[in-house]
Amino acid sequence: MILGRLAKRGWMNCFSCCMPVEDSIHNSSLENSIIQQYKDTKSPAQFANISLKTDSSRRRYIASEIEKFGKGNIAAQAFTFRELCLATQNFDCECLLGSGGFGKVYKGHIKSKNMDVAVKQLDRNGFQGTKEFLVEVLLLSLLRHSNLVNLIGYCSDGDQRILVYEFMPNGSLEGHLLELGPDNKPLDWDMRMKIAVGAAKGLAYLHETANPPVIYRDFKSSNILLDDNFNPKLSDFGLAKLGPTGGRTHVSTRVMGTYGYCAPDYACTGKLTVKSDVYSFGVVFLEIITGRRVIDSSRPSEEQNLVKWIHCWERTTRRRHCIKL
Ligand SMILES: Nc1ncnc2c1ncn2[C@@H]1O[C@H](COP(=O)(O)OP(=O)(O)O)[C@@H](O)[C@H]1O
Ligand SMILES: [Mg+2]
Repeated sequence: MILGRLAKRGWMNCFSCCMPVEDSIHNSSLENSIIQQYKDTKSPAQFANISLKTDSSRRRYIASEIEKFGKGNIAAQAFTFRELCLATQNFDCECLLGSGGFGKVYKGHIKSKNMDVAVKQLDRNGFQGTKEFLVEVLLLSLLRHSNLVNLIGYCSDGDQRILVYEFMPNGSLEGHLLELGPDNKPLDWDMRMKIAVGAAKGLAYLHETANPPVIYRDFKSSNILLDDNFNPKLSDFGLAKLGPTGGRTHVSTRVMGTYGYCAPDYACTGKLTVKSDVYSFGVVFLEIITGRRVIDSSRPSEEQNLVKWIHCWERTTRRRHCIKL
């Protein structure tokens, strides 16, 4: 419902016209070469269709793909495993920032750059395999926007697949909205709106400035990271997909994403469009204005699914109410 209204009001379109110049794709020749390569290979999924028998062949393959697709313009630095061990004190649990579906994230410090970083060590047997790793390195190197997290580098030594991001001191929106500790203050309304607008700008950039459009596929509150001024940045591009081109309306793909945030029509048909992300944006927007998690099994049964609860609430409540935060 809210999404329908957002779409009708053309909010996403409004955001793109306010984008600063530096937020355009940062290197048009790189853009063209990668897009041409993407078009030639039909889909980045082809990255995965090579069987790699040894660690060194996998590392060579990753390095050569990054060189080939990036045409030497990939800004992300290739780190050795040793450098990242030094940065994270051997991946010490004291440095652990959190763990997600794809691996663990550690806080690190790169001495040579005098920079704090977040180091994500992907599970060796996890879902984010070589293909998703490459997609994330390439896309984050190609795309530049103040509401997308910066990729500082990567490591593909041996069987390691590690991504090094800029460190976001305020963690994720989820932490400030849905997992508030007793000492944390809830976000005020203006801050919530600032975060919603910034996240929408990041999404609008992917959909409307990137060409071909990029469908993010994992828009959720834990992937919206907050810098020291609470500016939101989208992170985790391993599931991102290039959108339809040449007048097509959708791309057909295996259904991926996170339960609760994933658009029902995409979940049922596997037909992915930019609107699948817009649905997820709507879900996060509901989380932002209610402070409730999209799926919360600790609530009474009729309130466990936020989207259904809001629909029901809307149907049964004719008068305008404020939602109690
Ligand atoms: N660049 C970053 N800076 C600071 N914290 C981060 C960064 N990236 C991820 N994190 C933290 O690490 C945790 C795990 O992240 P992730 O592996 O992406 O899993 P998920 O998105 O499923 O929570 C998150 O709670 C997030 O707060
Ligand atoms: Mg994440």
